[in-house]
Amino acid sequence: MTVTIVGAQLGDEGKGGVVDIYGEDVDVVARYQGGDNAGHTVVFGEDEYKLSLVPSGAIRGKVGVLGNGCVVNPETLFSEIDALRERGLDPRVKVAERAHVILPYHRVLDGIEEKAKEDSELDAGTTGRGIGPTYEDKIGRRGIRIGDLLDPDSLRSKLEYVVPQKRALAEDVFGVSASGGSSGGSSDGVSTDEAFDISSLYEQYRRYGERLAEEEMTVNAGAYLTERIEADENVMFEGAQGTSIDIDHGIFPYVTSSNPTAGYAATGTGVGPTTVGRGEVVGIVKAYLSRVGTGPLPTELVDDDEEELADEIREKGGEFGTVTGRPRRIGWLDMPMLRHAAQVNGFTGLAINHIDVLAGLGDLQVGHAYELDGEEIETMPTTTERWGECEPVLRGFDGWSEPDWADVASEGYDAIPENARTYLEYISDELDTPIYAVGVGPGREQTVVVESPF
Ligand code: GDP
Ligand code: IMO
Ligand code: MG
Repeated sequence: MTVTIVGAQLGDEGKGGVVDIYGEDVDVVARYQGGDNAGHTVVFGEDEYKLSLVPSGAIRGKVGVLGNGCVVNPETLFSEIDALRERGLDPRVKVAERAHVILPYHRVLDGIEEKAKEDSELDAGTTGRGIGPTYEDKIGRRGIRIGDLLDPDSLRSKLEYVVPQKRALAEDVFGVSASGGSSGGSSDGVSTDEAFDISSLYEQYRRYGERLAEEEMTVNAGAYLTERIEADENVMFEGAQGTSIDIDHGIFPYVTSSNPTAGYAATGTGVGPTTVGRGEVVGIVKAYLSRVGTGPLPTELVDDDEEELADEIREKGGEFGTVTGRPRRIGWLDMPMLRHAAQVNGFTGLAINHIDVLAGLGDLQVGHAYELDGEEIETMPTTTERWGECEPVLRGFDGWSEPDWADVASEGYDAIPENARTYLEYISDELDTPIYAVGVGPGREQTVVVESPF
């Protein structure tokens, strides 16, 4: 069977940890969208792993697949695999031949366009990994796929077509020199010389193709996964990002350029939707909100009298971007956002994380609904501009003090402080979805597993 793990909010809900928790019963973990904009953390004993591309099942030695819906930066992929090998793991990663490749010019253009958008406040605060420009090329039918890296002639002719266009875009549209020096716009200082040089790109990416072939990493993802499922194996789909930064269902344009929502688990891997639909969809919820990008955030803790509390949550929850290190914005839980997520994804279960972070903070609030034009509404408006006009209708909850979370984790759900259980059950009731797991700390042992989806 299949289980799909989906971020219910704005990313960083603790998806990596949940993949790891249920990973014991899994044979293959597949990513279906996104790229190295993701940062998924697995904490096991004293060890912490931060993964951008290698699926989180690697920590338990499970096969990882990057599906056709992903965008893959081979440089990140290989350096992540090498770093894991140095730590004594043996990640077995397969990459869909249909997945698109992130090239250096995508990263440069990501930076250039974000900078250009800054004045009109349309920048999404991207991770600078070239995600948007790579998906643009996929949809524009000018992208380079993993399969092309294995076919030097195809790689060369595609680069010859596309690179002059990218250079013209940088120079003629954005007025940024694309020959010589560093890009200025690129967040990681990719040299523009190399980013727009056909011969050096060809040499570098052909070599990546050789390594992919040598390590037998490429695969027809749909065929491979379907075969495993038919052999009664368990496949977990590891969503990256979250529902409210989905390109279709999120707070456009402050979104990522893919579909983290559950429907894409089928399209982004090549497993049929009826097969995926017979499985489970677990929504990963952070007990409050954190946001690493730009755009409105109705329940954000930003007023003068709320800043101290936001700082406390940020420090206690380690709310600094996994990929970029940026401090995350903090807000109260937003129920209209979660109702929207439950509808779009069809959750069959919830994993609610970070209830330990809210302990000892005194009384808590939740954005139960919004007030918009004098009316109370319970779900998100479709435009982000209208969403920005929403005032949260807050509901108060009694706080809980800090128990020994290790004891709670070993004793089970009933050991969770009563007020925290009231908070959890409110979320579950509002979404009409059972609680499968509760995170009481970052580690594998710090999770109360109520039910396994397998
Ligand atoms: P992901 O992108 O959804 O996989 O989440 P990230 O790894 O970016 O961010 C989640 C962070 O919270 C990581 O540092 C996790 O180790 C940590 N974490 C996950 N669950 C919990 C929890 O229940 N409590 C606490 N305190 N930390 C958690
Ligand atoms: P995980 O998988 C949180 C945000 C960026 C930005 C927007 C677009 O760790 O939950 P992009 O680089 O994707 O074009 O940036 O999306 N973003 C994330 N926020 N968690 C993530 O991934 C994110 N991946 C992208 O901050 O606002
Ligand atoms: Mg993350």
